[in-house]
Amino acid sequence: MSKILIIGSTGQLAFDLIRVLKGGHEVIGSSRADFDVADSPAAGSFIKKARPDLIINTAAFHKTEECELNPERSFAVNSLGAYNVAKAAKETGAKFVFFSTDYVFDGSKKSFTESDAPNPLNVYGASKLAGELLTSAGNDNYYIIRTSWLFGIHRSGKGHNFVTLMLEKAKNGETIKVVGDQFGLPTYTHDLALKIKELIDKNAPAGIYHMANSGPCSWHEFAKKIFELAKLAPNLEQIKSGDGLSKIKRPEYSVLTSENLKREGIKNMRPWQEALGDFMLEYDKK
Ligand SMILES: NC(=O)c1ccc[n+]([C@@H]2O[C@H](COP(=O)([O-])OP(=O)(O)OC[C@H]3O[C@@H](n4cnc5c(N)ncnc54)[C@H](OP(=O)(O)O)[C@@H]3O)[C@@H](O)[C@H]2O)c1
Repeated sequence: MSKILIIGSTGQLAFDLIRVLKGGHEVIGSSRADFDVADSPAAGSFIKKARPDLIINTAAFHKTEECELNPERSFAVNSLGAYNVAKAAKETGAKFVFFSTDYVFDGSKKSFTESDAPNPLNVYGASKLAGELLTSAGNDNYYIIRTSWLFGIHRSGKGHNFVTLMLEKAKNGETIKVVGDQFGLPTYTHDLALKIKELIDKNAPAGIYHMANSGPCSWHEFAKKIFELAKLAPNLEQIKSGDGLSKIKRPEYSVLTSENLKREGIKNMRPWQEALGDFMLEYDKK
């Protein structure tokens, strides 16, 4: 059994990491009230006292539109924050897990493996790519997990995830406009947490791992499935990326495939539609 510190413990992914990892490990969490990852001395002193064997950093500044307006904060949290924790982990002999994003890629091909060259189109993606580089600069003993389009049962730090936002809009009777020309992989945080546990328990080699549910779709197809499973029939309109809802550049294709999980004999994650079905069952019980 190892001692695991999960940073960002009030977030949606952290919620599932805690419930999955506490069977088999000693798990402690830290929130922004304990320390801000951008504050190197505060992060260092908390980690020194806690002395975990493994540190999982889920903290992020990841509202894409706000990142574009505030690059300083994006790089302070997503890049330097990663370095501060990676370095503190190294000093205490801990392994470090950093979460990155499909938005490190430019969408110029239909899917991306770990060996494809990143080329982010927006500030959020650039700050996460810098976070990846600073993770490996700060600590050789790391996992960088690139994932995409997260939905989880616990409230996201953004206030909502795509699934809960769609359900809320439908219940309010709003007309819902969703882009149909951006493709990616919706990912259930509970499935992601189980895959992380597998990687840790296997003691897989350090490196970058792509982890997402399988079966690419557009945001519009994702929304259609949400309403089908929830038995709702809102007025759903398919729009194009340039239609004015957002000014931020996002990749047309940000589909993550993994060569590195395969190399380690770790299975791909199940189709997102099945995962969404399980999410809905738990959501209905809330
Ligand atoms: N959500 C997605 O679709 C998606 C896609 C790809 C990758 N990712 C990555 O996956 C990870 C987890 O995402 P998530 O959706 O679980 O995020 P989340 O729900 O927003 O959780 C992030 C947590 O980090 C905390 N936090 C934020 N800034 C902090 C700081 N400077 N210092 C300390 N704690 C801080 C937040 O606390 P407060 O609530 O107090 O802010 C929150 O508890 C992130 O690294 C994200 O970039 C997410």
